[in-house]
Amino acid sequence: MWLQLALLLAQFGFALGHPGVSSYSHQKTEVIHTGKRPTGYEVSFKFHPNATTHPTFVVLGGFGLYTNTRTASLSKMEQILPWDWTPEDFSLRTSVQLPAPGTNGKYTKGFNMTYDHSTGDWTYTLPFPSGTFNYAYYVDCWQGWASPNCTPITDPSNPPIERAKGDQLLSTVQVPWDGQFQSPSMNYDKYFPLQPASKRGSISFHVYRSPGSIYPSKDEHPVGIYLPREYGTVQGKKYPVLWLSHGGGGTDSDWFSQGRAQNILDRLIDEGHLEPTVVVTPNFYDLGFTQQQFGTDTYAFMDKVRENYLNYLLPWVESHYSVYTDRTHRAFGGLSLGGALTLTMLFNATDTWGSVCVMSNVQGPAAGDPQYNNPMLNQTDIWTGAGFYDFTFQYVRDFQEALTAAGVLGYQSEFYPYGDHDWHTWPDILWVWLKYGLWKDKVGPIKGIY
Ligand SMILES: *[C@@H]1O[C@H](CO)[C@@H](O)[C@H](O)[C@H]1NC(C)=O
Ligand SMILES: *[C@@H]1O[C@H](CO)[C@@H](O)[C@H](O)[C@H]1NC(C)=O
Ligand SMILES: *[C@@H]1O[C@H](CO)[C@@H](O)[C@H](O)[C@H]1NC(C)=O
Ligand SMILES: *[C@@H]1O[C@H](CO)[C@@H](O)[C@H](O)[C@H]1NC(C)=O
Repeated sequence: MWLQLALLLAQFGFALGHPGVSSYSHQKTEVIHTGKRPTGYEVSFKFHPNATTHPTFVVLGGFGLYTNTRTASLSKMEQILPWDWTPEDFSLRTSVQLPAPGTNGKYTKGFNMTYDHSTGDWTYTLPFPSGTFNYAYYVDCWQGWASPNCTPITDPSNPPIERAKGDQLLSTVQVPWDGQFQSPSMNYDKYFPLQPASKRGSISFHVYRSPGSIYPSKDEHPVGIYLPREYGTVQGKKYPVLWLSHGGGGTDSDWFSQGRAQNILDRLIDEGHLEPTVVVTPNFYDLGFTQQQFGTDTYAFMDKVRENYLNYLLPWVESHYSVYTDRTHRAFGGLSLGGALTLTMLFNATDTWGSVCVMSNVQGPAAGDPQYNNPMLNQTDIWTGAGFYDFTFQYVRDFQEALTAAGVLGYQSEFYPYGDHDWHTWPDILWVWLKYGLWKDKVGPIKGIY
């Protein structure tokens, strides 16, 4: 059975964050080009509660404060408020303590919104530099907006991309770059929705048969699919397939909602940097077994996920879509716990995937582990990456050095200088991998001097 949840990109308020687009009226969050200090842009947040909700107070929260490379480390940073932002500053939460989604501890700040009696709107306006920012509204959270007991509400005027209502806890706003105020190295317009909308691919969500699955119904499991614009227009054409996994606590809509992967793909395909590619976003929860069943052995759980995907999802994808079915046209990437899953795919399904991108992975097999003796590693296009302030930074470096020790020198990497374990880092890694690596025939022992 297919869930008919075909979600066209155009439905999602993607105009948000476009220079010159400010046609929103009251009750809608909008991005405004002020052309003024500090950043040239403001986001005017407006929350109009539904008729049954009568808040006493509403806090806008979810994004990090700003800091700079001089003062930031994993454990502390200068905390710069939005209106004090200068061109060297970037948004960071630091990931010393892994936060629950939307409740990211001490390096995020909540802003008490103002009630407008004439409109019934709660409003707050903040300057933002270029980039993608996740946020939510926290209604009547007397124990503190960041308390786990406080449920964030996504922005009704800018809903997240969800497979099912409630999948995503945060809305996403994209803010353009203004060269008069911001540094060229922090221009994130490259993640924006491609214009016109007719040039974009599509996102849809489906269910496939997965024996043992407990969600959304017995023996059925959800999956997200991105199809490039060209898909279906060229008779008989097959496409390569990229799988992108969420991380711990995540879901199959994360890469589309928080990561804006579709914008990155649309643009790189349009600019000729990437072959039109089908994207699969699987979901490693509720498959009928849990990580807890495997105790502290993350990789035993991941290996079970690997087996499950290869048994049920891979054949489903390859029989439902016009795609290649050989390893050189299959890629797997994932972040955090999904980075661990990517390592499992690399080591335990090496003959399935021709390319992998291991992002911000939890600690993998140590250098010298016999798993690195796999000669197929030299036939795999391997990418790695993390944020500079990412608590997994060292695990990614350990993985690189373990590959080097095994004589596997063809790997390439992207360390994002302005991010931690978050959705500033992963879209950047995806962009670099897709632009310079994926399907570019660089597999195998690398030429040149190492
Ligand atoms: C109104 O919003 C609240 C908070 O998000 C939600 O719990 C409730 O279900 C909503 N009611 C309606 C009628 O949509
Ligand atoms: C917002 O206002 C409420 C009610 O006055 C107060 O309890 C809370 O501490 C304030 N929160 C923030 C983040 O300023
Ligand atoms: C590969 O599979 C073996 C055997 O199940 C397991 O011990 C190992 O942890 C797996 N490797 C990874 C990286 O998941
Ligand atoms: C990869 O290739 C290099 C160069 O040919 C070789 O020295 C190394 O042993 C190979 N590594 C593996 C794991 O097969």
